[in-house]
Amino acid sequence: MEDHILLGIDVGGTAIKGALIDVAKGEQLTERLRLATPQPAVPASMGLVVNEIVKEFKWEGKPIGCGFPSIVKNGVACSAANIDKSWIGTSIEKEFSGATGCPVFAVNDADAAGIASIHFGDGKGVGGTVILITIGSGLGSALFYDGQLVPNTELGHLYLGGRIAEHYASAKARERDGLSWKEWGKRFNKYLRHLERLFSPDLFLLGGGGSNKFDEFADRLDIHTPVKPDRLFNRAGLIGAAHYARLQMQKGKNQK
Ligand code: BGC
Repeated sequence: MEDHILLGIDVGGTAIKGALIDVAKGEQLTERLRLATPQPAVPASMGLVVNEIVKEFKWEGKPIGCGFPSIVKNGVACSAANIDKSWIGTSIEKEFSGATGCPVFAVNDADAAGIASIHFGDGKGVGGTVILITIGSGLGSALFYDGQLVPNTELGHLYLGGRIAEHYASAKARERDGLSWKEWGKRFNKYLRHLERLFSPDLFLLGGGGSNKFDEFADRLDIHTPVKPDRLFNRAGLIGAAHYARLQMQKGKNQK
């Protein structure tokens, strides 16, 4: 297989997804395989699921880009909001590489979506401050200035009305509280308004599963900054994770 094709994996609190990605074109080449995240979401059992995806795509021994729902520094998970706390201090790269026999390059999941958007999606060529928010089990964030990523911003963990924003305005919070997307949209608007005050962004982009519902909540958004769902929708996480791995390999970084 050509070297511009990589396996992208997107680890979430609810599901672990995988697809082959053409990182030269920023395109998903296969259907997305979606398997439930084991509960408790501990390293060993998640490694087994990642290995199932590797086997399904016959990807043994070849490189993987992995978006992961935590602060990721040098391949190590440094937080664990929607996964088991035993991940903190664990090398995602070593854990998944041990489980699969593949070299693994790990990046925060929202940063991965942002990387895809900036290279192939609606963030491409946009100057100034761009913030991409992923709407899923948590609220993920990717912050760019003139196309440069500031990694691990974790803006879903800002305080909003005395609580952690993602506990109030994620897709999981919507389900928990039995809200329609329209009702939830009012909450999300408060969150975006807070980000607008803090960062004066030029553009908000949306990703993750909830971005597919944009039409249902768009009329609840009442802020000055333009907001649009990235055209890559929930493919961004996989595309960006694979692209991140390619960029790391091009820099000569070796995992494993
Ligand atoms: C995590 C972030 C992640 C986001 C989306 C948050 O709970 O802290 O690291 O990007 O969820 O998965």
